Parts: sequence; structure tokens; C-alpha cells
Amino acid sequence: MRKKVTVVGGGFVGSTTAQRIHDAGLADVVLTDILDGVPAGKALDMAESGPIMGSDAHAAGISTAHGDYSGTENSDIIVITAGFPRKPGMSRDDLLKANYDVIKAVVEAVVKLSPKAILIVVTNPLDAMAQAAFKISKFPKARVIGMAGVLDSARMSTFVAEELDVSVENVHSFVLGGHGDDMVPLTRYSTVAGIPLPELIAKDKLDAIVTRTRKGGAEIVNLLKTGSAYYAPSAAVFEMAEAILKDKKKILPCAAYLEGEYGVDGLFVGVPAKLGAGGIEQIIEIKLLPDEKAALDKSAASVRELVNVLRI
Ligand code: LAC
Repeated sequence: MRKKVTVVGGGFVGSTTAQRIHDAGLADVVLTDILDGVPAGKALDMAESGPIMGSDAHAAGISTAHGDYSGTENSDIIVITAGFPRKPGMSRDDLLKANYDVIKAVVEAVVKLSPKAILIVVTNPLDAMAQAAFKISKFPKARVIGMAGVLDSARMSTFVAEELDVSVENVHSFVLGGHGDDMVPLTRYSTVAGIPLPELIAKDKLDAIVTRTRKGGAEIVNLLKTGSAYYAPSAAVFEMAEAILKDKKKILPCAAYLEGEYGVDGLFVGVPAKLGAGGIEQIIEIKLLPDEKAALDKSAASVRELVNVLRI
């Protein structure tokens, strides 16, 4: 039997995530949205691309306008993209309270029907929303994961590949911390064909790449004007879902609930995590230099501020 992934939120991030999973035949997908007709229409359209894409995966769309999530039951993974997107000039944090209410309603509804699912949270502000989903679901920490590090690292890798004119496949970037302006791109642990970046790129250029990575989300928002990024975010969710559904034990930077790791306690922050059938199967702790640790602490403190506002 194929695995089942529910994607909550039929906006650009949600529908492109569902499309990637469906097209690859990774799992049957259920797309939900509070709009009427739109999720069913998108899902039918997706299903009708199956014969062309060579995918036998099923696609279904469900309107949750009346709070009814039936059809999502027994999902292996639930991807939560629902929420208000960032507008130009708006910080991720402005979204805090509005999106908390969305997450609360969604999580309460979906976990009842899929008590064994793994939650992948995408809604911003990412780390705080992952923490909200964790607390509301009462799921074990291994089964609540925030998507940010894979996206932020992919952005950094794009800029590095461009700078050095090398294949993106040669580049492994590592971005830790919260998904905010003080995220921590770790240049020392980021490599091109195994060679650390500081060996290959001059400091001023590397600093510029770090800054552009930190502002990567805003760069797209400013160009799109009416929304935020979705191709790279959905690709990031796909990679995480694939690691889980295929039990790959793949180490990816994810927002995970820390209980002492990296000196952080009781908070979601981006760290390298091993993803497999159990969700987060291990958090990999690496040794940080004092300035790297200070940057991670600063980023964690920003997440802590939001979490404190929400009292979660
Ligand atoms: C991004 C925003 C949406 O990083 O957080 O694209």
C-alpha cells in the first residue's frame, strides 16, 4: 500500500508540495484548504497529470471550511502550510499570533484522525509554529519537525555554486538556528566537494553569501510582492518527506525540539537531524567555535522571545 501524505493549505507552498510528492509517486496526497472547491480542483488536475508523469499516486482535495478533516485519516505525514503569508515589509514574526490560531485549529483536528503521523511544519514564524504544533499535538518530539534548514541551506548552496561556477551537487551547505534574520550559516562546515568554503571563497564574498542567505526569503517576497517563495520551500519539504517515507536516515538541517543539545532547552531550533521512518531519529551535535555558538544562542533567543509571547 502506498504511503499517505496530507498537505494542509492549498496555497502555492502547499499545492507545489503536493504536486512534487504526487508526481514522484512518493505517496498518495490529500490537499486541504479552507476554500471550497479549490483543493478538489487542484487535486483532480494533479491526478490527471498522472498518466503523463507516470505516477499512479492518488490525489484528493478536501475543503475544511467547516472544520471537517475527514479524508485525511491515517496519514503517515501531515505537512502544515496553512497560515497567512508574509507581505513585503512584514517580518516573519508579525505573523506570530495570527498563524498561531491557524496552527491550533489545524493541529487539533488532524492529530485526532492521524495519531501516528509525523508533522512537518512549514508555516511561519517557523520555529515558533513548530513549537506550537508540538505542544498542541502532544506528539513525541521525534514526530514534530520544522522545515527551514533544508531551504536555507539550499539557498546558500545556490549562491555558492553560482559564485564558484560549480555544480550545485558539489555543494553542501549547513545553516543552523532559527528561520529568521539571525539564522546561522556555518561556513566552516559548508563544503564544495568536501573542501570547506573558507578555503575557496574570499572572506568578503563569503560574508555576502551569508547575508544573502539570511535574507533569502525576503529577497523573494520583495520580488513577488504578493506572496512568498514556494518552489524551493516545497522542494525542501519533499526531501524531508522522502527521507522519512523511505527510511533513508538522511541527515538534514531541521527545526527540532531541543532538550539540552547545543545548550538549548525546551525550544525548537534548526540543527542537523537524522530523518527516517521514526521522524527525527537522532540530533547530531557538532562542536561549535565560540563565535558560532554565540550566533546560535542569539538565534535561539529570538525564537525564545516568540515562544514566550505565545506562552507555549
Ligand atoms: C522564506 C519565507 C517564506 O524563507 O520564510 O521563503
